[in-house]
Amino acid sequence: MDRFRVVGGARLVGDVSVVGAKNSVLKLMAAALLTSGTTVLTNVPRIIDVSIMAEVLRRLDCAVDIDDAAGTVRIDVPAMPRHETDYDMVRRMRASIAVLGPLVARCGQARVALPGGDNIGSRGLDMHIAGLARMGATIDSEHGYLVARADRLRGATVWLDFPSVGATENLLMAAVLADGSSVIDNAAREPEIVDLCQFLGQMGAKIDGAGSSTLEIQGVSELTPTRHTTVPDRIVAGTFAIAAVLTRGDIVVRGARAEHLELPLDKLAQTGAEIELVPDGFRVRMTRRPRSVDVVTLPYPGFPTDLQPQVIALAAISDGAAMVTENVFEGRFRFINELIRLGADIRTDGHHAVIRGRTGLSGAPVQATDVRAGAGLVLAGLVADGATEVHDVFHIDRGYEDLVGQLCSLGADVRREPGPILPPG
Ligand code: UD1
Repeated sequence: MDRFRVVGGARLVGDVSVVGAKNSVLKLMAAALLTSGTTVLTNVPRIIDVSIMAEVLRRLDCAVDIDDAAGTVRIDVPAMPRHETDYDMVRRMRASIAVLGPLVARCGQARVALPGGDNIGSRGLDMHIAGLARMGATIDSEHGYLVARADRLRGATVWLDFPSVGATENLLMAAVLADGSSVIDNAAREPEIVDLCQFLGQMGAKIDGAGSSTLEIQGVSELTPTRHTTVPDRIVAGTFAIAAVLTRGDIVVRGARAEHLELPLDKLAQTGAEIELVPDGFRVRMTRRPRSVDVVTLPYPGFPTDLQPQVIALAAISDGAAMVTENVFEGRFRFINELIRLGADIRTDGHHAVIRGRTGLSGAPVQATDVRAGAGLVLAGLVADGATEVHDVFHIDRGYEDLVGQLCSLGADVRREPGPILPPG
């Protein structure tokens, strides 16, 4: 397993470009199942999760062609795809469950392995299941599989207990082919949901309210394949914005949409950074030690939980104390013990973390526990004294296209090294 060796101290300066969002493209790929024929997605990130979703689709009898040079994925869906996704795939990537809604809508049944727990908390499926049941599906749990069956789903009104991104997406993809109209209330409002709505709309789906808490869907009997450009990755863009502040640097983030990062950019402005909109992105410049700011994670348009580890890394070297409250994933503070290994002064109590900023951190070996925690540790390494080795970087590769190359182009001293070969057993 590879690791990143980060030597702290460089001020990051220059331009970076972000490509399409992992959290959008995976669902767009799943949504391609809603019709036979050829779907083409552009602005696709070169990340491992896209390869995993391609494999999920191939096992459903789709032909998937990833063109890394062009940043495109072409998906050919047969007239009747298979309808089973096994544990091997779901274990590798939890987002594989995004095929559940499309398969039951399109094939009348879906067998999708139940994901186990993962590193960021329990992440239940109850809202996905309750919503599909309300649309008339029968749902059983058999031998580790969730089995959903419905000759044709019927439109229904679903009130989500919490604006879950995954449940909103699965229910939306099911509702577009249901008989009659559906309402998803307390729906997630993330830009990736809006992207999915636009994609489905291009396929012929009838959806009102994209980007609001109430999605109204008029089911249609069939959809047609389309070509679509993936929305830019706001989390990757936000990671570079935080890196600029942390290293007292000056970074222009291109290919990004500042309007998807209003709250994070406002928080960075409160730390003392200068934020400027530029054509096709934004510029973040910092000339002094950042001030601490409090952050509360919430569903969009709240502060994204996927930027929480990065903002905790920032607070670790900021002037003053900050309280960060995590409201989305219960296990998202697990990486804090790794940050403490770098000398950060952090106390947690339930879903609150109090970070007392220090003037510096001290490089050490640490372990990435999930993709965003990994990014947070790399950022901390950029300002730590000496070398920080971040282990288990396959987590980072899941969501960041060539993070090492991009940081190096901004002047960071980061390299990828093969991990130690451990003896068997
Ligand atoms: C997606 C993103 C992830 C991001 C998260 C929140 C992908 C691949 N992942 O994850 O990067 O951090 O949105 O923005 O897009 N929950 C239930 N029951 C359910 C569904 C969810 O209890 O049926 C809970 C989860 O345990 C979690 C919370 O709701 O505590 C949020 O989950 P959700 O919004 O569904 O996140 P994901 O779609 O898994």
